[in-house]
Amino acid sequence: MGAYRVCGGKKISGELTIGGGKNAILPILASVILNSGVSVLHNCPRIADTFTSIEILETIGCKVAMEGNTLIIDSSGADKCEIPEKLVGKMRSSIIFMGGVLGRFRTVKISYPGGCELGLRPINYHLKALTQLGAEITDEHGFIIAKADKLRGTKINLDFPSVGATENTMLAAVFAEGETMIVNAAKEPEIADLQNFLNACGAKIKGAGTDAITIRGVPRLHGAEYTIMPDRIAAGTFLAAAAVTGGSVTLRNVMAEHLYPITSKLTETGCGIQTRPGIVSLTSPGKLRALDRLRTCPHPGFPTDMQPQMTALLCTANGTSIVEETMFESRNRHVNELMRMGADIILAESGRTAIIKGVKKLKGSTVSSKDLRGGAALILAGLAAEGTTTVTNSEHVERGYERIEHALTQLGADVVHLCSESHLGE
Ligand code: UD1
Repeated sequence: MGAYRVCGGKKISGELTIGGGKNAILPILASVILNSGVSVLHNCPRIADTFTSIEILETIGCKVAMEGNTLIIDSSGADKCEIPEKLVGKMRSSIIFMGGVLGRFRTVKISYPGGCELGLRPINYHLKALTQLGAEITDEHGFIIAKADKLRGTKINLDFPSVGATENTMLAAVFAEGETMIVNAAKEPEIADLQNFLNACGAKIKGAGTDAITIRGVPRLHGAEYTIMPDRIAAGTFLAAAAVTGGSVTLRNVMAEHLYPITSKLTETGCGIQTRPGIVSLTSPGKLRALDRLRTCPHPGFPTDMQPQMTALLCTANGTSIVEETMFESRNRHVNELMRMGADIILAESGRTAIIKGVKKLKGSTVSSKDLRGGAALILAGLAAEGTTTVTNSEHVERGYERIEHALTQLGADVVHLCSESHLGE
């Protein structure tokens, strides 16, 4: 078990280049199974979830090499259609492999992902959409087995714009006969990145980024060379770090339009935001203003993956903020930890709404990271706090940030990763 030691009180300042997006690379890695060639992916984040996806690809029979941030994947020899339970347990989003493996082999066996640290995370929308495409799905002793002699394109109306269900449906539809239309699709930018990669491999998909995606079935895909889009949540986290420490930061390799739901809220707290092509800069006013209401929503609403970091930031803002989590029932487990640091927060509505009364200062403490974004939030709180904060269970943070301590140190913070057991360097 690793930990971060954060010595608070240092202003973030300087420039940082943002790497590839966690939520972009994962579905793209699941999609390479569909082609029987070699894919070269640039700008891949060296995070634990990438390494878990590589393990899954190797288990299926792909050959994978990583050079720096470039992955070379040869999926020509893929011949297995079972995703091992221990890997699904490690990373819930392994469920996205279901659509890819089913598309290629017409059969897939994957263990039920069950709940996770964010609470119950059902996959009923995934299963319903794959059934509509012609898959027969059975549940055998905690394993899902999907089979389809033939997948047939059809109109699929998602009950909710689920990111994973949209991606799984896209993957399964690539080789389906005829046309598939996903209505009420998720509009997250990472879905457009998946579309762009698949189209570079020879797929015929349009509409990603809107709520209607059309996939015209093709007989085969070939490998492609592709650069993964920047990580908008990592970018948002570093903007929040600058804001909460009263500093300033310039981020390179970002897409300002993808960051708008985050930067518009940071502007409301009093931060100055400047954008140029590929660049976003933030200047903090020092003391931030509270937010009347911040509510998480599917894109282009405020992303749930930035909610904990904003909650941390609002702990020392002037006034009372209300933060409403609508996506995940157990997303607020960092709140108790923030209160150990002196935050004044009341949780209402079964823990989904946080009423945050800004305090003058947070105090350094030992706190425990319960999940990926909650862990990042505690690091931000530590940056703003008086004294030293130790954030334990760093493995959660390593799932989604490539050497966060290194990036923050580069920006003038004092953050050390203790007894690291990360996959970096593997
Ligand atoms: C993806 C992201 C995750 C982000 C989330 C919401 C990846 C790898 N992960 O997760 O970081 O927090 O989008 O932006 O891209 N739901 C159901 N049934 C289903 C599917 C989802 O009830 O079959 C519910 C979920 O429990 C949740 C909501 O729908 O309450 C949104 O989930 P979804 O958009 O599917 O998130 P993920 O794809 O799991």
